Amino acid sequence: MSEYQQTFVIERKEDGSSVNVNLFGGTVTSWKCCGEEMLFLSKNALFDNKKGIRGGIPIVFPHFGPWPIGPQHGFARIQMWEVEQLPSVDVSGNVVAIIALVDNAETRKIWDFKFKLRMTLTLLKCCFSMDLHVTNTGDAEFNFTTLIHTYFRLPDVTKSRVLGLTGCKYFDKTTGQDIQSETREQLSVDRNIDNIYANVPDELTLTGGPAGRTIKITKKGFPDTVVWNPWVDGAQKMADFGDDEYPLMLCVEVGHVVKKVSLAPAQEFHASQTLQIQCPE
Ligand code: BG6
Repeated sequence: MSEYQQTFVIERKEDGSSVNVNLFGGTVTSWKCCGEEMLFLSKNALFDNKKGIRGGIPIVFPHFGPWPIGPQHGFARIQMWEVEQLPSVDVSGNVVAIIALVDNAETRKIWDFKFKLRMTLTLLKCCFSMDLHVTNTGDAEFNFTTLIHTYFRLPDVTKSRVLGLTGCKYFDKTTGQDIQSETREQLSVDRNIDNIYANVPDELTLTGGPAGRTIKITKKGFPDTVVWNPWVDGAQKMADFGDDEYPLMLCVEVGHVVKKVSLAPAQEFHASQTLQIQCPE
């Protein structure tokens, strides 16, 4: 790949699946299943290599949320990642690509640690996995939080449901309240939502996706899940998000955010997310 090429596509022509990757932020900007787009990307998203891309799947690292010493949600989503492996077909017929981010002068100025992030992107028919490895390549222990900030594209968020959160403790960022247990079997969204669920089961379901599809979200090594929709007021506050776009998306973000991960020198953290679509045969 030429050093000037910033985007690439992972493709399975045989079933109309594809993933577009932008090395700015290591951001997946599109995932198509049977030719249908599954991810929300704002019409106002900026591609200026300065601001994080509004939509798709940005990566949050090494800090989730406002960060006193650096940018909100950390710097991984505004750093230029590198290609470690261009898309290639593995022995099982999956198409696999690997991207990576290594500490550099800019990251060390904010957060003085040596690390390597490695994200393996695996595309199967109607199924897309992201495997994150974080390695401490320095000689000092560090702590971090991380999250895969998936923006799902929906025809109407009020008709979608998130299943699998029942009984989980959460922090409601919109009210600042800790809630001891999610009572809803099926979470529906008809207002601003910004809930941080702790210790969530590893299988979640999102109904009412594009063309009515159901998306199974399976996570490993990510204990927590954030559910976010900015609604009318939040949308208006974001210059890179259309005022009328909030009904068309929901972020269901799996991560390790409630407690920090501690990584000693040479240690590695591994976690993954798999998105599987129920597709007509
Ligand atoms: C979510 C947070 O993960 O990301 C929200 O829980 C935040 O509080 C949202 O508003 C979007 O953040 P940003 O920095 O991309 O505008």
